[in-house]
Amino acid sequence: GAAHQNLKHDSAVKQVQGRADYTDDIAEPIGTLHAYLGVSNVTHGKILSMDLSRVRQAPGVVTVLTAEDVPGVNDVSPTGRHDEPVFPTEKVEFHGQPMFAVIADTRDAARRAAELADVDYEVLPHVLDPVGAEKAGMPLVTDPLKLERGDVEAGFAAATHRISGQMTVGGQDHMYLEGHIAFAIPGEDDDVIVHCSTQHPSEAQHMVAHVLGVPNNAVVVNVRRMGGGFGGKESQMNLFCAVAALGAKKLNRPVKIRPDRDQDMTATGKRHDFVIDYDLGFDEDGRIQVVDSKFAARCGYSSDLSGPVTDRALFHADNAYYYPNVRLTSRPQKTNTVSNTAFRGFGGPQGAVAAERMIEEIAFALGKDPLEIRKANFYGDETDGRNVTPYHQTVEDNVIGRIVDELEDSADYQARRKAILEHNAKGGVIRRGIALTPVKFGISFTATWFNQAGALVHVYNDGSIHLNHGGTEMGQGLNTKIAQVVAEAFQVDFDRIKITKTTTEKVPNTSATAASSGADLNGLAALDAVEQIKARLVAFAVESRGVTEDAVEFRPNHLRIGDETIAFDTFIKEAYMARVQLSAAGFYKTPKIHWDRASGTGRPFYYYAYGASCSEVAIDTLTGEYRIERTDILHDVGRSLNPILDKGQVEGAFVQGMGWLTTEELWWDDAGRLRTHAPSTYKIPLASDRPRVFNVDLADWSENREMTIKRSKAVGEPPFVLGVSVLEALSMAVASVNDYRTCPRLEAPATPERVLMAVERLRTQG
Ligand code: MTE
Ligand code: MOS
Repeated sequence: GAAHQNLKHDSAVKQVQGRADYTDDIAEPIGTLHAYLGVSNVTHGKILSMDLSRVRQAPGVVTVLTAEDVPGVNDVSPTGRHDEPVFPTEKVEFHGQPMFAVIADTRDAARRAAELADVDYEVLPHVLDPVGAEKAGMPLVTDPLKLERGDVEAGFAAATHRISGQMTVGGQDHMYLEGHIAFAIPGEDDDVIVHCSTQHPSEAQHMVAHVLGVPNNAVVVNVRRMGGGFGGKESQMNLFCAVAALGAKKLNRPVKIRPDRDQDMTATGKRHDFVIDYDLGFDEDGRIQVVDSKFAARCGYSSDLSGPVTDRALFHADNAYYYPNVRLTSRPQKTNTVSNTAFRGFGGPQGAVAAERMIEEIAFALGKDPLEIRKANFYGDETDGRNVTPYHQTVEDNVIGRIVDELEDSADYQARRKAILEHNAKGGVIRRGIALTPVKFGISFTATWFNQAGALVHVYNDGSIHLNHGGTEMGQGLNTKIAQVVAEAFQVDFDRIKITKTTTEKVPNTSATAASSGADLNGLAALDAVEQIKARLVAFAVESRGVTEDAVEFRPNHLRIGDETIAFDTFIKEAYMARVQLSAAGFYKTPKIHWDRASGTGRPFYYYAYGASCSEVAIDTLTGEYRIERTDILHDVGRSLNPILDKGQVEGAFVQGMGWLTTEELWWDDAGRLRTHAPSTYKIPLASDRPRVFNVDLADWSENREMTIKRSKAVGEPPFVLGVSVLEALSMAVASVNDYRTCPRLEAPATPERVLMAVERLRTQG
């Protein structure tokens, strides 16, 4: 069957040939207009007056949309907190905040006109960073979370060693190839159809309806595919959809909005950067006895998804380690910056990187190999009782020990580390470092109700199959995987399955394609639909042939019914003539999960995905420049639905994680302007930055112990955390300049400048 095969991505050829259609490729009907956002040029201010007459008079301008044009609710906040207006009326809270939209004949005309607003502000003081904002008494954007287990005070009283410190971890721009875009077309009966690039079509639909003041059934949202989302299109598309739909409704003409890259980067949210305070107790063997950490995040001016993102930082603040006594608190801090949002890992990587910093602190304090400390702290199992997380979920599927042992062997870690220590001992300009780091990542939306999915399967009377599900394709290969599942279940060839665009008309009330759960949720929903149709086909075979159920078998492209062999197509035609229903809607909801946020206890995750990576780097101690010599990865995806696609996900996630921790730096000036707002100043990894040697393997022995789709595991986000091995390897290389006497406390991103400063700091410390 098609499942578990290395089938290529269903749009791979089209993408390479430039034939894959994105929202901007949809033919524009005559009369299509173009919108552009006008934005604030102060960071925090009261709007005293807004004179848009020059905008309205500019060449090509058809209309200008402001808060007065919103017939429904002037709000696009995804959590219903009503803290994110489409267009603000009283104040602006970050530099570059959208204030109005110009609609013109051409995009260029709209863009030029958007510069012409005369706005009078009373400028107010602003704070950009979470620590400064806390000091200034700024509020939180949402309720903080506390996770607690054991006895923290007693833990510190009994601790052999105690270290406290602080770590800053930077944010990240999504840098999807295709930026934000929405294209609204007036439909029948005053409806509106919005084609866009969102990971969350249902939310976009509901949000457009809410802004227009119409019921959800008056709005259709369609997504064929995205040129990358990475979390940046989970909630951030709401604004663009709302603006396009408002324009289309007001003018009864198609309206498209597509910001340029600079506006995409300044006006939409990013990964949250964090300032993490940790206090840690451990014994002589490096075993952690107690952890008390606070996670303050730059959330921006509104809540957006900051609640669940900062929650997930706490859920992964243990990475793969058991903390006997622990207290973790989040501080979702309001700041005068763009509202930060989902980004691959959803806060989890920020939590995990803090865990790895603590491991380093212990290793340097005791003069040991960090890998030894890691192993000493891995979760155990029911035999040693070291298997309960800070949120009181028991870890039942732990394979981190095996993953790390196998990678340690295959990457030849011990011998290479020894050689590197010898090399560094010679004291040259080029220093080397190696690190092997683990990941354990919880799979499920922590908002339990999101863990549901639907699908729609039609078998046409010629035997061809139409598949639709609630997930969105953003490059990860979801559609290919789901089609494999359907092809396997019917025992037909993969190319008999046609997967169509995601649309709110076919599957309603879907969840975002996020939390890595796209295949888990939609795969089982599609399978449910297929099983219903198959059951009807079996019943028809039994009835028409007078055989028992177990005499009916689905075989490759045909059925065996008793002694008879009949082609799938022929049997389908026969079933149609006999009036068998050949269409079904499937549904799935994840079992076993529950979560009580108030008490910080439950089983938020259905299962965990595990992995490990080992990276070796070389740094130039005179310039801070570095390169990644080699990375080895062993990652657990259960029984892979498609190994080649999963490997691609692991490689891509690792490189994106590495970019986050090395070269990708977001920098605001004192006036509150984001100065790294284009690829010229914001550095994502290039092909030339990838590890010189890059060995990626899937743990082929792994199988999900839970009843997931074909016993596979989610793959989208967990391997992002594997980029941490690069940061840790850089840290070792830096530490060599004072003979590993002190933890370098390398901050992320560890840009060449930061590496150089850390080298200089350690040298002067001696
Ligand atoms: N892979 C590609 N090529 N493009 C993307 O935008 N997004 C990532 C990951 N892999 C992404 C990607 C993120 S943030 C998530 S949550 C998952 O894919 C979502 O898809 P899945 O649930 O089907 O894995
Ligand atoms: Mo992924 S951050 O959950 O879209």
